[in-house]
Amino acid sequence: MTSVAFPSSLPGGPTRRGRTETDVISTIGGTPLIALDRLFDPDRFQVYGKCERFNPGGSIKDRSARSMIEQALKTGAIVPGRSTVVESTSGNLGVALAQLCNFYRVGLICVIDPKTTAQNAAIMRAYGARLELVDQPDPQTGEYLPTRLGRVRELLASVPDAYWLNQYANERNSQAHHTTMREIHEALPDRLDYLFCTAGTCGTLRGCAEFVRDHQLDVTIVAVDAVNSAIFGPPAPWERSHRRLIPGHGAAMVPPLLRAGLADRLIKVTDADCVRACRELLAQESVLAGGSSGAAIAALQSAAEWIEPGAVCVAILPDGGDRYLNTIYSDRWVREHIELSDSGRDMR
Ligand SMILES: Cc1ncc(COP(=O)(O)O)c(C=O)c1O
Repeated sequence: MTSVAFPSSLPGGPTRRGRTETDVISTIGGTPLIALDRLFDPDRFQVYGKCERFNPGGSIKDRSARSMIEQALKTGAIVPGRSTVVESTSGNLGVALAQLCNFYRVGLICVIDPKTTAQNAAIMRAYGARLELVDQPDPQTGEYLPTRLGRVRELLASVPDAYWLNQYANERNSQAHHTTMREIHEALPDRLDYLFCTAGTCGTLRGCAEFVRDHQLDVTIVAVDAVNSAIFGPPAPWERSHRRLIPGHGAAMVPPLLRAGLADRLIKVTDADCVRACRELLAQESVLAGGSSGAAIAALQSAAEWIEPGAVCVAILPDGGDRYLNTIYSDRWVREHIELSDSGRDMR
């Protein structure tokens, strides 16, 4: 018989339970840190997952969306009942913005591409967002991002009172993650050695790194990127044959939010690494997580050889797996699209 350890306390911990909230937006943040003791032996080093799926929109992007929208409302850049926010987003930011824009009575047009899942598109529509699909990738790069940005520019010129938040360059995106890192620090005030953070717009990476620097914390920041992503420089020749099908981490360009020195180390992972790690996380910990969470876990697994005994590590888990049931958690999709023997590497 397999023996199973029960959690040390019954439900009723300090986070959120037993108090009222003024509205759904005020429940953004305050997400739990969960010990991943089954996946990583705590006698070697301790790993916690920061579970961002507990945000009301289901991902870490609720923090960025709230920060960018509330700033734009404060400065008068957008006005309830009159303005329309336009943004290029293929997933979680779109859902988060749809939630926020509906709440604040601001219009929203999300420019999406064929990689946007039907489920995400349905959620955005349910909140009242209008979706604009670009179906042609940029002929030079083969990526959809340049075409999506082109469509954003057209909409800004044609829609009255349209406003572009520009998540890739908006510092309110990165500032939102001072709260992410503050929460981690408050939960682990005595010791945190490593933070594993995936990079897309680099909002999370920059916000967390700024908090670490401003509070002089002794935390090594490990950026996790996708093989064949251009965020930290042009992909090496060995990367170029890799397709990036899993959204979230990785980008076809250097995001304007990136600054030199934000990350102390860089690990690049393949889609296969993400799938394997997501499935292990589910099997061992019963945590149904999204692809970039798998990326962070895969990076931690590959770092196990240099992480010193007794270290305390946090992996940010940006969203839940419910949005990936037809991809990462579909055996058929994985068989058809993923070369499971493929692996990424530690870059420095
Ligand atoms: C699931 C997921 N993981 C990772 C990221 C990357 O976060 P950031 O844009 O803050 O770099 C995103 C961004 O949208 C995301 O949706």
